[in-house]
Amino acid sequence: MNIFNNVDTWKRERHSWQGTATSLGFVPTMGALHEGHISLIKQSQKENYKTLVSIFLNPTQFDKNDDFNNYPRSFEKDLSLLNELGVNYLFYPSYDELYQDNYRYSCRENELSKILCGANRTGHFDGVLTVVMKLLNIAEADRAYFGEKDYQQYLLIREMAQSFFLKTNIVSCPLIREKDGLALSSRNLRLSSAGRKKAPAFYRILSSTLSLKEIKKELIRVGFKVEYVEEFNNRRFGAVHLENVRLIDNVPHK
Ligand code: PAF
Repeated sequence: MNIFNNVDTWKRERHSWQGTATSLGFVPTMGALHEGHISLIKQSQKENYKTLVSIFLNPTQFDKNDDFNNYPRSFEKDLSLLNELGVNYLFYPSYDELYQDNYRYSCRENELSKILCGANRTGHFDGVLTVVMKLLNIAEADRAYFGEKDYQQYLLIREMAQSFFLKTNIVSCPLIREKDGLALSSRNLRLSSAGRKKAPAFYRILSSTLSLKEIKKELIRVGFKVEYVEEFNNRRFGAVHLENVRLIDNVPHK
């Protein structure tokens, strides 16, 4: 696998085979890779000739320093996983490389980004959309892959790509769950073993036939701190906190 830290060096590589029939799939990540990321990478490998993965723990999308500082990091492990999977390229930039303007410029959406996960996390989606816009412009991929665990993020990115006439096709991939139903997330690694045992109740309760009010009550009774449980676009979305770890999930709902 070829590793690029520098935008210009990657662009030179990208342009050296542009115009050939070679398609490129792109999977942006913040590292601490798990089965959810692996499914995105495999989907990209199935649909493209080459796959580029990026690892960049993006500080501008964290509204709390604590959350950023405690976010799991496992670069060496990620690297061997990407090599095992046969990924062609890794883009692994520094903050200074990606934010040459030191975040003077940003991308903002004014409706969907203000509800659900955006309601309580000031600037979160500005940070996500800005870094994804940068990464999509750098990658120049044919397709970019995003997981449905972050469904609101996926919708915002897809609509941003349409609004700005980006060339890259935004592809969504199904949410991957542990056998006990817990949605895969890098943050799950921060749960204690007792917390890990309790966490699947979030999905169980969210996907039950209870009303939104009853769901919130039941989540609190079981020991979660509820950030929100809401319905939007025929889906039920929720965010809870357990042992100071933020968990999100969403399920189809008619
Ligand atoms: O979903 C993520 O891991 C991040 O929000 C993303 C899309 C890589 C942007 O930093």
